[in-house]
Order: sequence, then C-alpha cells, then structure tokens
Amino acid sequence: MNNINLAKQINQQFPVELVKFLQLAGVTAAGLQQRLFLVGGVVRDLLLERPNLDLDLVVEGDAIRLAEEMARLETGKVIARSRFNTAKIRWERWTVDIAAARAESYTQPGALPSIQSFCDIQNDLIRRDFSVNAMAIYLDPPRFGELIDRYEGQADLKRGLIRVLHDKSFQDDATRIWRAVRYEQRLNFKIEDHTLELIKRDIDYLETISGDRLRGELELCLEEEKPEKSLQRADDLGILAKLHPDLKFGESSARFFVKARGRLEPFSIPEEFELALLVYGFTPEHLTEFNVLLKIPKSVALVLQETLQLKNELPTLAEKGLTDGAVYRLLHRFQQTAILVNLLAASSYAAKKRMELYLAKLQHVRTFLNGRDLMSMGITAGPRVKETLELLLEARLDGRAKTREEEIEMVKKVG
Ligand code: CTP
Repeated sequence: MNNINLAKQINQQFPVELVKFLQLAGVTAAGLQQRLFLVGGVVRDLLLERPNLDLDLVVEGDAIRLAEEMARLETGKVIARSRFNTAKIRWERWTVDIAAARAESYTQPGALPSIQSFCDIQNDLIRRDFSVNAMAIYLDPPRFGELIDRYEGQADLKRGLIRVLHDKSFQDDATRIWRAVRYEQRLNFKIEDHTLELIKRDIDYLETISGDRLRGELELCLEEEKPEKSLQRADDLGILAKLHPDLKFGESSARFFVKARGRLEPFSIPEEFELALLVYGFTPEHLTEFNVLLKIPKSVALVLQETLQLKNELPTLAEKGLTDGAVYRLLHRFQQTAILVNLLAASSYAAKKRMELYLAKLQHVRTFLNGRDLMSMGITAGPRVKETLELLLEARLDGRAKTREEEIEMVKKVG
C-alpha cells in the first residue's frame, strides 16, 4: 500500500496558489536540508476527496526558520511563532501551520502533552490519535506527493474505521473520545471494535479534562455539519453524561436541531442557539452547574438561563384572553435567541402563536411620544420615563391609546 503518490490529487483538489505554496515549501525545506510533510486531517481528506484547506505541515528541523525563509522568498507573512518551534504563515488568503516533527509525552492524564524531543516524521506520526489521521505526504523533491502510511490509515479509510494506534491513547488524552465520535459521525464510519472497548474502559478519564477543554470539544461537535448525530452517539456511549450527569440528547432533541437547520438554511445555526437546545431539558440548577463546569462565557450563559426562564413562562403565555400588551410585557425582557429557541421547542400551539406575533409585529411597534416629549411634559428624567413609555406602549398595543393626543392624555393622568 505504501509508496503511492498523491501529487495528482494535490493538483486536482487544491487551488493553484496552494499547490504552488506546497511545492515552494518543499523546495525551500530541501534547500535547508530539511524534509517537509503534509500531515493529519488534510491527508485523510485528500484521500477521501473531501474539501479541506486546513494545511498542517511538519518539518524535520526548524519550523520557524523554514517559515521565515518562505516569507522572505515570496509574499508570505509569518504571523505567529511559538517557543515549541511552530509557526503560522499567511499565504495569499490562507493560513498554514508549520510545526517541527516532535515526540510528545503526557505527564498525567488530562494534562496537555509536553514535548519530549524533536524527532523524525515516523515518531511524530505514532503519537497521533487515529490511523486515518496518522498519514503524511512528502513535500520535498524528488519525493513530492509520496504517501507515508505506517498504520494502515488507507485500509481503515476503505473499511470506514476509526482506530487508535495504541491501547493507552484515550488515557493519554481523553478528548480523543470526543474526536472519535466526531470523525465516526462526520465520515459515516464506525469506531473499530477494540477502540470502542477502550473508550468504554477509559471513559472516566474524561473527568480529568479541564472545563475549558471539554467546552472546546463540545464546540467542535456543534460546528459539525450534523451535530445531532455526534450528540446522540455521545449520549449512547455515556460521553455526554460526563459533561453533566443529567444531560440527555434523545430523538426529540435531534429533531429540533434538524428543524432549526431547515429554517435557517443556508445560514448555520449560531452556537448559543444550539447550546440552548442542548440544555432545554435542564432544571435551572443543572444549568448553573453545567455553566460553571464548562466555564460557559457569561453572555452565552445568560441566553441559556433566559431560555429556561421563558420555558417556565410558557403556560402563562398560552393562557386565554391575553392582550397584545400583556404578551409584549411578558416577552420583551427576553433576548431574541431565548424566544426563538422556545418557539422551536415549545409544545403549546397558543404560546408559539404569541411568540410569532411578538417577533413579527409587537416588538416593532413604537409609541407616538418619546422620552424627550415626556420630560418636556414634566416627567423627571430616569426610570420614570422608561416606565411611562412602557405603559404607553402597552396601551397602544391594546388599542387604549390610538393617537398622539390620546397618549398625551394618558401621560397627564399618570403624571
Ligand atoms: N491530533 C492528535 N490528538 C489530538 C488532537 C490532534 O493526534 N488530541 C493530531 C491528529 O493527527 C490530527 C492533527 O493532530 O489529524 C490535527 O488536529 P486537528 O486540527 O484537531 O484535526 P484534523 O485532523 O485537522 O481534523 P478536523 O478535520 O476535525 O479539523
């Protein structure tokens, strides 16, 4: 299986400028007596003919020197360098990562890896997560395009399997459990039997991962084209429960995701909207625990809280005889996302109709008088103005004040 050459696929699947970049990078590395490789997900996707322009390069040598040399030769720009011998280079409208080939070690489960030593490509590939991600392509001439596949990556792509390279992989880095699920569902593959056994054996290692990293994995999952597939699988395997023991993702949750996508197409669903759908079954207490554990940013946490608060108000919103003014009063304190999520997930037809009415009409209605008018009529600046304006708006919505004059009369009465 080895020694296949993918130069033709590179030419066919990448834009001309990137092909030129890869060739030039290979020649430049060779000039510095370094071997250079394309690695990881982009190689997997090249073989699968899936679009992916996230180029990861690995050099057996000095990544920063290579990036600087590239930038000097052409119009590229080195935009980041790290003390771990990695660089980011901007090339036309692309960003390419270059890293030095490295062996890593994990000092303790859950910790980020520390670099043990710089090494050759073979040792760099063996530290990777799955066979399908552990392939590399030579970029330096004369071997440009030649595939390195030591761990049956191509065979697993053909068999449709996600397989770890060694039995301690998930103990080293339990975020790989989430990665396995994402790849499996994205590519319509299967997690290989033994790998699945290891996930079950090592699932508790997810408890060693920090909230930030877990949130990162969840965010990546939500960025998938069909996140509901990965979320369902994660629930089935007990992985979701490691984010919060009461987090569930059943068929109805999956249906909401599909429905939301259908309504928003061609746009993607905002992440906070997806998170709100995910936590819709939570109690407020569970939500607080979830927000703390995953370090959910404050603004997003607020949307999630408001979503559940509004869910709690839905029976009131569905009551008979509610005036437009009352609907407005109930809904205007909620953010749009909280309302939209409830509109999608609520079961009450009456409550849904009122949310639609609010979004389409009520929220856009304005009073004839404004704050300045009220102050010129003697209302003192401050919260009184806001309260009076709200009173006028409700009166307008309920048909109790239909003209500017009627509003003036109302102000006189309350003033
Ligand atoms: N990798 C790994 N273990 C991890 C994360 C990453 O071994 N926990 C390796 C894999 O070889 C992976 C590469 O680093 O292919 C790049 O990681 P990343 O950019 O996260 O993944 P991609 O494979 O590019 O996948 P995606 O298509 O999801 O971006």
